[in-house]
Amino acid sequence: MAKLLFISPHTLKALLLFITISTTTTTILALKHPHDHKLRHRGGGGGGHGRPEKFTHLHFFWHDILTGRDPTAVSVARAASTNASATFFGVVNVIDDPLTAGPAMASKLVGRAQGLYASASKEGVALMMAMNFAFTEGEYNGSTVAVLGQNAAFSDVREMAVVGGSGAFRLARGYVQARTHSLDVKTGNAVVEYDVFVWHH
Ligand SMILES: *[C@@H]1O[C@H](CO)[C@@H](O)[C@H](O)[C@H]1NC(C)=O
Ligand SMILES: *[C@@H]1O[C@H](CO)[C@@H](O)[C@H](O)[C@H]1NC(C)=O
Repeated sequence: MAKLLFISPHTLKALLLFITISTTTTTILALKHPHDHKLRHRGGGGGGHGRPEKFTHLHFFWHDILTGRDPTAVSVARAASTNASATFFGVVNVIDDPLTAGPAMASKLVGRAQGLYASASKEGVALMMAMNFAFTEGEYNGSTVAVLGQNAAFSDVREMAVVGGSGAFRLARGYVQARTHSLDVKTGNAVVEYDVFVWHH
């Protein structure tokens, strides 16, 4: 019995190297996993080897509605100098923005972006975003992803940090990329495309 369990230091070293290589390969494969443009996709990460981390790519559209009978973004604070600022410096909006599968408001609702953004730049428009994506559909129903970052709203692609999450996204970290899909310059209403790349447990 004792003989069967005996592993020479050389074999042990080779075994450890094999485990390290196979773990690394799994991670690289997970990162390269093709992106599924649905809220359902979950790439194959970790699992075994004591690495429970998963990689998920989410894709949806964020609707910021400032006008009309039922706005989803409301100003809650504004500095005396905000009106005179070309960058709206000093205004704070609270949001409960619908997240939909497609760019049309009528497309499938997958969750809501709840939180706030503040105009936090005196030169060039840049928002400080702090919001939770609260999902209401499919396997992520009831789970959230917390996003914090700088949103230079007039740049093509804005990257912000995923700083945490809950439920399926416990211990989440990663990043989002935001791209303006449409903007009504008169009202400020905007539809923004979001790609979320998240590693979680
Ligand atoms: C800023 O402008 C808005 C609307 O244009 C107005 O309601 C508000 O009173 C102004 N605020 C200040 C501090 O001047
Ligand atoms: C999401 O979860 C809530 C609360 O558990 C439930 O009421 C609702 O029906 C679920 N929605 C879907 C689409 O599964």
